[in-house]
Amino acid sequence: MKNALITGAAGGLGVCLVREYLDRGYRIFGLDIARRPETEALLAASEGRYAFFEADVTDTAAIEEVAQRVRAEAPSLDILVNAAGLFRPESEYLLEDFDVDGSMHLFDVNALGPLRMAKAFIGLLRRGEDKLLVNVSSEAGSMTSHAEYIQRYDYCMSKAALNIQSIILQRYLKPEGIRVLLFHPGWMHTPMGGPEAPIDPADAARGIADVAAGLRGRLDSYMYWNYNGTERPW
Ligand SMILES: NC(=O)c1ccc[n+]([C@@H]2O[C@H](COP(=O)([O-])OP(=O)(O)OC[C@H]3O[C@@H](n4cnc5c(N)ncnc54)[C@H](OP(=O)(O)O)[C@@H]3O)[C@@H](O)[C@H]2O)c1
Repeated sequence: MKNALITGAAGGLGVCLVREYLDRGYRIFGLDIARRPETEALLAASEGRYAFFEADVTDTAAIEEVAQRVRAEAPSLDILVNAAGLFRPESEYLLEDFDVDGSMHLFDVNALGPLRMAKAFIGLLRRGEDKLLVNVSSEAGSMTSHAEYIQRYDYCMSKAALNIQSIILQRYLKPEGIRVLLFHPGWMHTPMGGPEAPIDPADAARGIADVAAGLRGRLDSYMYWNYNGTERPW
């Protein structure tokens, strides 16, 4: 059985990714700060194919402990999906009111969290068959095609940092056949995206899983995608 690890697994997109990969026959290791009712429902319906870990992606020791527990249960990891992410209302403040020092935690979660996960799980990923490292970015990380924000410094900067991190990782991991991908999941109606958002996170999850499956082993293909399979400009 193939194994996938998904961070942000109790969040809007994360729950849908867990359901999507369970439906595709994977065993799932989910990670998030805390469980939600949907987590319990998925655990109950998974027939033992879903394990959930409460951990914070900014906590290196906690991530290493999860890695040890996953290594004890699985010989390899086929897919690592970094979907955990943070947005804060204060991101909407203009320069004069923007709390620069208050941005550090968001940056830690969105930019350094995925790097911690890559470092902790690369050994397992190397032994997997799919060899996919999927980072959920955003249009906010694009230099040329974002929504022309005049605020959201911390969120946009954190996703741009995730993008360059992914380029460096892809360069490093290419000789081993590991494909690194970035996705803009669209504006989804999730706790982060809000109820007005047009995109169902289940559609985003299905799109991400489809596009990632199609790019397995295609190490020279484009790497920054919209969930619907169109290319997102850098
Ligand atoms: N929603 C959108 O429209 C949209 C658009 C573009 C990109 N994205 C990206 O898509 C991803 C998923 O977003 P979403 O809409 O599903 O957001 P969401 O519903 O808020 O889910 C994100 C999940 O990540 C968890 N998380 C936050 N900090 C964490 C940490 N330090 N360690 C572990 N888990 C942590 C959250 O837990 P808590 O709820 O407890 O904080 C939440 O369960 C994010 O990376 C986001 O930046 C979203």
